[in-house]
Amino acid sequence: MKYTLAFDVYGTLINTSGVFNSLEQMIGDKAKLFMDTWRNKQLEYSFRRGLMNKYTVFSVCTKDSLEFCCKMFKTDLSIGQKEALMDEYSVLPTFADVDTGLKNLKESGHKLFAFSNGSEKAVSKLLTNAKIIDRFDGIISVDGVEIFKPSPLVYEYFNKETNSTKSDSWLISSNPFDVIGAISYGMRSAWVQRSQDSIFDPWGIEPTAIINKLTDLCLKLE
Ligand code: 2OP
Repeated sequence: MKYTLAFDVYGTLINTSGVFNSLEQMIGDKAKLFMDTWRNKQLEYSFRRGLMNKYTVFSVCTKDSLEFCCKMFKTDLSIGQKEALMDEYSVLPTFADVDTGLKNLKESGHKLFAFSNGSEKAVSKLLTNAKIIDRFDGIISVDGVEIFKPSPLVYEYFNKETNSTKSDSWLISSNPFDVIGAISYGMRSAWVQRSQDSIFDPWGIEPTAIINKLTDLCLKLE
């Protein structure tokens, strides 16, 4: 069967740890905790905005969470340094398995879409810089429905925009909240377990499939 595949971007295709080296140069050994806190706070802000019905582009959540971390870690980053970090967030590297994995899936006849909280412009810049944009049939941003993952409205919007259905589409994500959201909506979903330390939330909702790299996905698409 040929599926329509929705690929989460940050943390799934794109390695957000790409900011680590710059951060380490700026703030030393606080960099790892700073970066992890930044990612978690970025997502927290998107969840809160969803509940508050106060949508804004995802980059505002990224910027506001960076400001939070500067206060939390008492780092006196300059405006220039913050701008450099935000710029770096817009051109992050892919994981090593991504290009080959996408190529295999495309050659197997599936339709591939990038599907993200990020704006179409931001995701297009990321995928172009990472030289994988041509692997995709399109980019679907939650901007079009003005609410963030894991609202069921975003998965419904994905199906509508790609002329797909719950039964012929999969969400591919390293983020358990995204996988649980898609399955709760009614899609199949593969969890990309990017680290052995990653924990899947104990909600009693399990991924349809678990993979460690995109090159393992073809075999799982039953
Ligand atoms: C996304 O790309 C935030 O990783 C999430 O939509």
